[in-house]
Amino acid sequence: MRLKIAAGNWKMNKDYQEGLELVSEIVQKSKPATGTLVILATPYIHLKDAINIAKTTSHVKIAAQNCHQAKNGAYTGETSIGMLSSIGVEYVLIGHSERRQYFRESNELLAEKVKAALSENITPIFCCGESLEIRNEGWHVRYVKNQLKKSLFDLSEEDFKKIIIAYEPIWAIGTGVTASAQQAQEIHKEIREAIAEKYGNIIAENTTVLYGGSVKPANAEELFSQKDVDGGLVGGASLKAETFLPIIEALPTTHS
Ligand code: 13P
Repeated sequence: MRLKIAAGNWKMNKDYQEGLELVSEIVQKSKPATGTLVILATPYIHLKDAINIAKTTSHVKIAAQNCHQAKNGAYTGETSIGMLSSIGVEYVLIGHSERRQYFRESNELLAEKVKAALSENITPIFCCGESLEIRNEGWHVRYVKNQLKKSLFDLSEEDFKKIIIAYEPIWAIGTGVTASAQQAQEIHKEIREAIAEKYGNIIAENTTVLYGGSVKPANAEELFSQKDVDGGLVGGASLKAETFLPIIEALPTTHS
């Protein structure tokens, strides 16, 4: 069975103190459940202390929101994967639509970041998703498959198995408009089929594919109950324990 994940992406929110308080609250109040994981993608300033807090559990992990592709060098303001690894980071978001849009990150650059992360055994949470314009024009499936192809499908089977995918339609991010459960299921199925075509059914069945875009307590359960939706990557609703905890609880659990 593939892992079900509730991941919070704090984006550029929370000062140092507020952030650590939220990590502590999530760690204390979320319950470990078989086959599930909670991941908090915090700003860089929180990472090291957040990791220390999360270490007291086995079900809460901490992610960075970005990394640079180079090992080191004259890249003022950037953070390398080796640096993240040196403080115990285990996950990193790569290719969030805000990085693609505001920082001009291309599919090719993201392929380099993915490889850099894997080289330090950090798990990429690779984000993909189309704009409203593309959705309205009806070629969103082709667009998303191309993102996967350009940034991930050069990986070996061994490496691809380590990837987590997050489908986040740009029109649903921070807008309050959520993809319907059917819309999410439809494209998640297409994503899984594209993986199966490239890497075979077993790897496709084992790849966690998250949905992101206005996930909230009221819609999480319906979204997460879709066959090919393995949890969520949550922005706004992950900034408060009272809204993120019910989303964590909406994850389907596997009973062995
Ligand atoms: P919202 O949940 O605020 O729509 O953000 C989604 C997102 O971008 C998570 O990475």
